[in-house]
Amino acid sequence: MSHAPVFHGSWIGSTSVGSPFWGVPAPYVRKSFVLDRPIQKAFLSVTALGLYECEINGRKVGDMTLSPGWTNYHKRVYFQTHDVTDLLQIGDNAIGAILGDGWYCGFVALQPRQSYGDRPQFLAQLEVTMAEGEVFIVVTDESWKTVASPVLQNDLLAGETYDARLEKSGWSAAGFADGDWQSVEVFQHPKLMVEKSPAPPVRRIGEIQPVATIEKSASSSGGLAIIDFGQNFSGRVRLTVRGSRGQTIKLRFAEVLNPDGTLYTENLRAARVTDYYTCKSSEEEVWEPRFTFHGFRYVEISGIKKGQSFQILGVVLHSDMPVTGRFRCSHPLLNQLQQNIVWGQKSNFLDVPTDCPQRDERLGWTGDAQVFIRTACFNMNVRGFFHKWMQDLRDAQRPNGAVPAIAPDCDSVQNIEEGGPAWADATIICPWTIYLCYGDVQILADHYDSMKRFLEFVTLNRCKNNIRSHPDLNKFGGFGDWLALDGSGNEGGTARDLIGTAFYAYDTEIMSRIATVLGREEDVQHFTHLHGRIVEAFRRRFVTPDGLMAGGTQTTYVLALHFGLIPEAARASAAKELVRDIERRGFHLATGFVGTPYLLEVLGKNGYLDIAYKLLEQETFPSWLFPIKNGATTIWERWDGWTPEKGFQDKDMNSFNHYAYGAVGAWMYGVVAGLDLDPEQPGYQHIRFQPRPGGSITWAEASLQTARGEASIRWEINEGVFRSSVKVPVGTTATYYPPLESESPVVLKAGFHDLSWPLVAG
Ligand code: BGC
Repeated sequence: MSHAPVFHGSWIGSTSVGSPFWGVPAPYVRKSFVLDRPIQKAFLSVTALGLYECEINGRKVGDMTLSPGWTNYHKRVYFQTHDVTDLLQIGDNAIGAILGDGWYCGFVALQPRQSYGDRPQFLAQLEVTMAEGEVFIVVTDESWKTVASPVLQNDLLAGETYDARLEKSGWSAAGFADGDWQSVEVFQHPKLMVEKSPAPPVRRIGEIQPVATIEKSASSSGGLAIIDFGQNFSGRVRLTVRGSRGQTIKLRFAEVLNPDGTLYTENLRAARVTDYYTCKSSEEEVWEPRFTFHGFRYVEISGIKKGQSFQILGVVLHSDMPVTGRFRCSHPLLNQLQQNIVWGQKSNFLDVPTDCPQRDERLGWTGDAQVFIRTACFNMNVRGFFHKWMQDLRDAQRPNGAVPAIAPDCDSVQNIEEGGPAWADATIICPWTIYLCYGDVQILADHYDSMKRFLEFVTLNRCKNNIRSHPDLNKFGGFGDWLALDGSGNEGGTARDLIGTAFYAYDTEIMSRIATVLGREEDVQHFTHLHGRIVEAFRRRFVTPDGLMAGGTQTTYVLALHFGLIPEAARASAAKELVRDIERRGFHLATGFVGTPYLLEVLGKNGYLDIAYKLLEQETFPSWLFPIKNGATTIWERWDGWTPEKGFQDKDMNSFNHYAYGAVGAWMYGVVAGLDLDPEQPGYQHIRFQPRPGGSITWAEASLQTARGEASIRWEINEGVFRSSVKVPVGTTATYYPPLESESPVVLKAGFHDLSWPLVAG
């Protein structure tokens, strides 16, 4: 049941303040109250600047974690409402909370702590409707009490330190003696919006058992083991241990191991990523930190003594998005690739779409989100998740219309004024993708003005003669084709002005379509004309009449072909040039974040489906399957994160859990299995089944939970016959485009259909 309160209380918290470099213990806050009559219903609405976990009468409220999530706390914070009717009782009651530093005052964005504020603040309102209808309210105010909790230190990047000897048993129960607790500090009301979140909360989504324990040494003094979960993921561990009072156990985390079997932690950079637990007794104790998470596959445990037993369980955390898509095919390594893509999504969709979950970064990089969103929409229902993030992005937009590189906004050196080509454009591409996948017009309407302001900014400040990031402007030209293999630095070899102008054209094309959806006739005209002028400028500057392109990188051709920037007559020769480069590299790609998402699509659409499959099935470096052949269980940030010849890439930027290259997932669903949307009838009102078999694949299947029910396809090739079964959900129609383009499309109604065609034209 939804319940939207007006908060009548004050923001409260502890009187203790940490420093920019070190935090203080997480405070408990509590209050007792009496309910003298039977109650009907009770709702607790609650939020924090920082993180909170609430309890009523000794029982935890809700099953969320890391609430209320990350927003730009200078502007906005989200509250959660819980039905707490069952937690209350007639007579004495108590409500309490423990407050964590989180994104508000912990380390964030490569900055010292306290980016947004110096200590957590808490706001709550309990509304109890009595049996006769009268409403009794408890709010946060000066009557609450506070004391330090056993969480001695907590930080999302550094980890958590817990001393169980300091536990205060019954701290949130009625009747607990809080006489020695202090009064809370009451803060001035921060000028920000307190709203209901459009996003699903973060929860403990799953548990993972270790697959191996590697004993490193066991001595009576220390002891050390490395536990392997067999899967790289985001979350934390639950430790069960029988120790002795005062014994401290230390947990360190890593995604991969060094050749000598120790944890490879260099790529975590400044993030300490270490948890400490101090036992209170010699009984069995169970502990899981509450205010931190790590990105890891391996845990090193030390402080365990010889003969002491312990267990460790992996706890997977992410935004609670329903799983919607499944993909499988006859190629086991491609199935592993799909798994790795899904794990990349789980690991990096933790309230914000982050670049990575492990090092001291974990930021909502706009480019990464834009690159991956289409694939994300297949795997899970990310509609609410992106509604929230689009609000983050809008909150981050500069007064002049510029869209920065990161959202939520934070005072970071990294969050430069403008994200540049393929990064800032997320502001148009992401809502458009959500509209296509969910038929969601609202997201377009909500952000339309902000998109227009962004494009005006680009036109006025970043373009010369319709060329965006023109070198003469000598301004920041963007991140290039980030991490492509064809340049000397991280930006790859594709010209920045080419990328900029290609995305400028793409933006205006999308904007004219959005304006059409929203019925803004004048804008349709404006963006259509602007688009025409940009395409002309692009052709003049970058394309020869023969379809040869300046720079000639794979991404150059991919963008130009994908965004329709090459004159029709020259398309074939441009596509040939792209293939020539792929062949020259022994059927390998060289694209970075910007070109990779469209690479296979462009090949397939321009007569080179065979080459697209060669790249997809390629197992040698660089390729999607090379990391998998080397044990990857998530998508790597770099094609060469590790190679047998060179070992680990530069430790300063070597995440093993970045989702960008996982953008190939959309092609596996849409082309290998053959299930896709129809942009003219968004939200899968009309489904396109268009499998294009190739490579060594003999069968494939995909299913998708659409708003109208499940759509699915399965096909297999047997003795030259292509057989397929599809499911068309009620309330939709579909068109099946047979694999041989010489065969006519088949229009399908809702229901189950079996279809088959010989694979040789007859
Ligand atoms: C991040 C990327 C991001 C990039 C911008 C990196 O540090 O990890 O994924 O898009 O910076 O160039």
